[in-house]
Amino acid sequence: MSKKVSALLAALLALTAVMAGCGSQNLEVKLTPDTTAANGEAEKNEVTEQVTTLQIQEEIPEETISEDVTVTEETTPMPEEVKEEVTEEVTESVVLEQEETQAPVVTEPPAKTQAEVPQTTQPPAPTEPVFVQEVEPTYINGILIVNKTYPLPPSYAPGCLSSDTDAAFKKMAADAYAEGLTLWVQSGYRSYDLQKDLYNRYVARDGQVAADTYSARPGHSEHQSGLAFDLNTIDDSFANTAEGQWVAQNCHKYGFIVRYPKGKEHLTGYQYESWHLRYLGVDTATAVYESGLCLEEYLGITSEYSY
Ligand code: DAL
Ligand code: ZN
Repeated sequence: MSKKVSALLAALLALTAVMAGCGSQNLEVKLTPDTTAANGEAEKNEVTEQVTTLQIQEEIPEETISEDVTVTEETTPMPEEVKEEVTEEVTESVVLEQEETQAPVVTEPPAKTQAEVPQTTQPPAPTEPVFVQEVEPTYINGILIVNKTYPLPPSYAPGCLSSDTDAAFKKMAADAYAEGLTLWVQSGYRSYDLQKDLYNRYVARDGQVAADTYSARPGHSEHQSGLAFDLNTIDDSFANTAEGQWVAQNCHKYGFIVRYPKGKEHLTGYQYESWHLRYLGVDTATAVYESGLCLEEYLGITSEYSY
């Protein structure tokens, strides 16, 4: 092979490597929450939640994010081609091929000698905070409760809004539309892993104390129940729109309550969220609405983390 051809090939390989790196970098940048909103802390936080959720939904499937997050958090990053080798089933032909070509095979660390094996029965230190274990969901008066006191287990994963919730939203949206108002679901069902990803980013950005005022820890979000969703624009301005005012006055007729009302922050555990609705069914939602109480007061329960 001539020197010119070799140089050309080397240049092409370098260009390919740069392009692959750009792809990964772009993904990382897009998944980073936007911190540029300047309309107050609450607004900034919720807009970011909206943006992040949208980006995740639009960019790559949720399951893909969860898998990537797990790999990133729990293992040492490794080259893409090695990842593929590890995740694929290792067949005999693959092993033989690798041996023939002398390619480095990195699947397992070398077995430790007896001297290297730690002589201790202590469990390894956790690499991240432990959140919710396999607890049972809590029902009070037939109502599924999800707040800071009462979590859902990671395995609670309906995968979407419940059929009753979805049907009630569609009816409400149709009636609102007849009055010239447009309602849409901005953020609906969220898995445990997606909530964990969101919450961890908010903690990294704002610290845990601030994050806990506007974002639920994994296992503690009503979004995981499939009975709650965020409407339209997720920020404080929604309350003053025609849609926000109509929803506040009418959503109970369709079975919803504004779950985190103004003035009840110390009871719900969260800042006022005019856009977050929880489905309870028409009778209970109407009773809660007419009582003027938040759900915690109505049921006589707390919303506080014990960890
Ligand atoms: N923003 C609400 C509290 C949630 O994260 O579920
Ligand atoms: Zn919400």
